Amino acid sequence: MKLVTPNFSDIYEPNVEIGKFPDGDAHVRIPNLAEYSGQKVTVFSRLYKHQNTALIALLLILDSLREVGAEITVVAPYLPYARQDKQTIDGEIASARSICRLIADAGCTKFVTFDCHFLNSEGEFTYNNLLIQNISMSDLLIEHAKKLFNGEPFEVIGPDAGADYLVKGAGGKSLKKVRKNYDNNTIAYRHIESMDGDFDVSGKNVLLLDDMISTGSTMIKALEKLQEGGAKQLACATTHGLFLHDSLAKIKKFTNLVFSTDTIKNKQAEVSIKSKLAAFDGSEPTLF
Ligand code: R5P
Repeated sequence: MKLVTPNFSDIYEPNVEIGKFPDGDAHVRIPNLAEYSGQKVTVFSRLYKHQNTALIALLLILDSLREVGAEITVVAPYLPYARQDKQTIDGEIASARSICRLIADAGCTKFVTFDCHFLNSEGEFTYNNLLIQNISMSDLLIEHAKKLFNGEPFEVIGPDAGADYLVKGAGGKSLKKVRKNYDNNTIAYRHIESMDGDFDVSGKNVLLLDDMISTGSTMIKALEKLQEGGAKQLACATTHGLFLHDSLAKIKKFTNLVFSTDTIKNKQAEVSIKSKLAAFDGSEPTLF
């Protein structure tokens, strides 16, 4: 059986109601909840934008389904908090671990997501008690780039080591990014200190590929580097297009070929996750 939250309406018909109480608390309703009793249920829910509210709504859904004895798979294309998977200074909370534990404890048997930041390959992993199936969109993003480059050859490069698994299928390599340390031993956004890599891109088309574009600082540094290296035509692609602040405008100073998937709804979403959901939405009897 399938449950779909309203923020997934671009792909499936929603059948869960999510509203807000006047004070901002999430207000959730699963019509005919009893019908899910003892069933295998797949919950399709985006957890961004408004990630805190969306996560609470998901926990409420999971807890209610668990109470009626459902076996629950969650399909959430983007996992918020995934970037903070390590503790850098004493007492800093590795929120990725905490969020995964909360989702598992609330009753999720399997969590399906795309290009999860702290996982370095496709496949199934147990992470702090949560069974995660990580699916990559790199193949479809690279296919899309082939059209944009009009069949001309191009190199695929990652802006940092985390992108290795996204680019290696296309014979690509990654730049080496180093972030600054925290100043004064307090937590804050860690800016990029350096980005290196000795690739000969002179006269070549290059697709930069990363798991997410958030503030855009990673992509912009990489674009600068490749432009300095004499690249011909640059493109940049990402699975999760957050495009915060004026990042898109800044990226467009280097290239108009900038696109993402629709794990997060945004104007640059040119590649759909839909075909990869078939294994989970009942249209292919391969799951369970
Ligand atoms: C970091 O390691 C990720 O893979 C991305 O490179 C990073 O999160 C992108 O963030 P931003 O756009 O803020 O540089």
